Amino acid sequence: MIAAAEWIGHGCPDLCEESAQDVKRAIELELNNTAFYTCARHNAQNQISEAIFGRLAKQEAEHAELLSEMLDIGTGERPQVSCSEVDEENFIEAHGREKRASTFYLEVARRAPEPRMKEVFYALAEIETEHLKISNLYR
Ligand SMILES: [Fe+2]
Ligand SMILES: [Fe+2]
Repeated sequence: MIAAAEWIGHGCPDLCEESAQDVKRAIELELNNTAFYTCARHNAQNQISEAIFGRLAKQEAEHAELLSEMLDIGTGERPQVSCSEVDEENFIEAHGREKRASTFYLEVARRAPEPRMKEVFYALAEIETEHLKISNLYR
């Protein structure tokens, strides 16, 4: 994963409009997932699921932050997202969310013309694929 500081160091010289729109969509996705995992952590039925959902919430929040810094905008408000009282159901939902996230990042990485954007989107796709594996493990 590219550190935010490193990215800012390079600046964003040629961020085309389409990629900027994709970054905005990515921020929305990350904020939504952050809100979901925060809810799931809150409702966790044991310490293991609490730790997993907490870690996922933290990582998605970091993604939202990194992407916002790329556009030089504020991170924005987290939406209201509900979740289940049952861990198992939240892991099923997590599976769907991570599948969507990894598919989304692969798609935008493929079409981004800027090499640095490709790098960032592929790195995120990889992390979301790891999250997908985590969501399968504890289901
Ligand atoms: Fe993420
Ligand atoms: Fe994720």
